[in-house]
Amino acid sequence: MADTLARWRQLDRLFAGRYRRRQFENANSRVLDVACGTGRNFQYLPSSSEIVGIDISDEMLAHARNELERLGLDGTVHQMDAQALEFPDDSFDTVISSFSTCTFPDPIAALYEMERVCTPDGEILLLEHSRSDAAPLAWLQDWRAESHYETNGCRLNHDPLETVEQTDLTVQNASSAFFGLVTTIEATPR
Ligand SMILES: C[S@@+](CC[C@H](N)C(=O)[O-])C[C@H]1O[C@@H](n2cnc3c(N)ncnc32)[C@H](O)[C@@H]1O
Repeated sequence: MADTLARWRQLDRLFAGRYRRRQFENANSRVLDVACGTGRNFQYLPSSSEIVGIDISDEMLAHARNELERLGLDGTVHQMDAQALEFPDDSFDTVISSFSTCTFPDPIAALYEMERVCTPDGEILLLEHSRSDAAPLAWLQDWRAESHYETNGCRLNHDPLETVEQTDLTVQNASSAFFGLVTTIEATPR
């Protein structure tokens, strides 16, 4: 998927750009982007941030490195499993992640890891797709869920807020947009 996603930059900006900007433009200081993919979020982070991205896929990370270079940003990316982050506790002021908990085999483990590496007064900012609150769209998502998972490894009709609520994180703010297809969550470590 890495090359395809990289080619969809303009499309992503059109559909997801405004949500990425709103959710991540105030990310603070040292920022970890978990499952950064091709580095889509980097351009929406404050230019003063120190960016660290991780992803399981080297192919995605190759594009993420190019994105850092293209934007002239000072950051690093590393191959790593979101469910077993190789950073000490309290390493980052802000942990961000987008369209990712739907793909993790164990999203709850990944969220606990995000909490662990976030400073106690830091923030975890998530941008996720979610099951629509419009019945016909939700029906379509349910109908395609199994085959979409088999082809793309993504749970099309998941409920990210419900997943976050199963962890220790404190949800400070959650909202949905675009017929409930997009969910943003701001959470803090307990
Ligand atoms: C749909 S893409 C989203 C990428 C990016 N965050 C974005 O918004 O464009 C999901 C990403 O999760 C990564 N991923 C899946 N499982 C992972 C894991 N266990 N640890 C780290 N990254 C993982 C994939 O390689 C992929 O880059």
